[in-house]
Amino acid sequence: MEILAINGGEKAVKKPFTNRFAMDGKEKNAVMKLFDDALATGSNIGYNGPEEEALCKEFAEKMGGGYADGVNGGTNAVYVALRAINPEPFSEIIVGAVTDPGGMMPILMCNCIPVVADVTPGTYNASPEEIESLITPLTAAIIVAHIAGEPADIKKIMAIADKHNIPVIEDCAQSHFATVDEQPVGTFGRFGAFSTMFGKHFNTGGQGGIVFTKSEEDYYKVRGVADRGKPFGLPAGSTNWIASINSNLNEIGAAIGREQLKKVESFGASRRAVVEKLRKLLPPSVELPKLVEGAESAVWFLRLTFNGKGMSCTKDEFANTCAAEGLPINPSYRGALPSLMTWFTERRAFGIKGFPWTSPEYKGSNNRDFDIPNAKAVMDTCFNLHLNESWTDEDIQQAADAFNKVDRAYRK
Ligand SMILES: Cc1ncc(COP(=O)(O)O)c(C=O)c1O
Repeated sequence: MEILAINGGEKAVKKPFTNRFAMDGKEKNAVMKLFDDALATGSNIGYNGPEEEALCKEFAEKMGGGYADGVNGGTNAVYVALRAINPEPFSEIIVGAVTDPGGMMPILMCNCIPVVADVTPGTYNASPEEIESLITPLTAAIIVAHIAGEPADIKKIMAIADKHNIPVIEDCAQSHFATVDEQPVGTFGRFGAFSTMFGKHFNTGGQGGIVFTKSEEDYYKVRGVADRGKPFGLPAGSTNWIASINSNLNEIGAAIGREQLKKVESFGASRRAVVEKLRKLLPPSVELPKLVEGAESAVWFLRLTFNGKGMSCTKDEFANTCAAEGLPINPSYRGALPSLMTWFTERRAFGIKGFPWTSPEYKGSNNRDFDIPNAKAVMDTCFNLHLNESWTDEDIQQAADAFNKVDRAYRK
């Protein structure tokens, strides 16, 4: 009998998994050129410059046409999109239960109330039916994240949102160029908000983000709220029109992003190819995700479902054991349930008096706790594998061998 690493045995993973190598000399050259130009002319490297303009144009072209603005983070991309809608304070904004805190906190930063939609059973993505059940006259927007790179049921969600005339922000932080019926996510809603921090499919180095829209009018609103309310697109002589923060992307990030953008589709395709190879090698206790019809995942990470049939362990035991074998696994995605965090449950978004929930101007129920049984349940069945586009056949085999070792150990 093989001894599990968790019990002191030798790890199944003997060789480090291949790193991404997502950057090559081109990103470095692009940044060096900015320095060369700055040194030659005596100027500093700025923002709102030619690199950002080109990045946004190239990005919008890849999205099938429209407008994009570079911002300094995915959280700020969601914030900027929501501010561009300009919901009245104390409006309700519906948001999926499973998301990064950065996908929910912008709601509070707009002095609005997050209303949390449970997920479709067995997935991390918000359920269209749950979203519809939460719509009230106070609803001002819906934020839909495509978690793990798996598209949410965005067509159904858009049909519901359009019926109720509510704008949708697609949070595409994890889903660069994932598609539904070959249409990229981020193009279904009124806005697509992207994170381009260094861990994402394509990145702008460190922190960064992009807001996409098909509407020129919305584009100018986005530029304004991303830049202290400046009057972009307004008649000469106009002054700043909204109170906002400075969320500009800088030229160094934009230059890196332009090189990365050229590779983004190949990153997605290569990750999907890794998943297809894994499909043939995984044990019965590990199942791949079933996507919504017509969807193609960007595979930011691979959501795996533990099938406990015939097994003598829980998902958490299984995933922790796999991690101990050296697999790059997040055994639990419970950190992506912001509405269970104390800032939310104790209503401590600002100070200690419960603002904005307790404000007399909020006409909903400030004690509302959102029941999210499906989101809690999926945390007991799913875990995340952090593969990447550079994985070789050897990496794939090594991962599969580790999963199979753990499957054999726990099989009754
Ligand atoms: C769904 C989602 N929304 C928003 C964010 C926030 O993005 P950032 O970390 O770039 O601020 C993330 C971060 O990973 C995310 O996964």
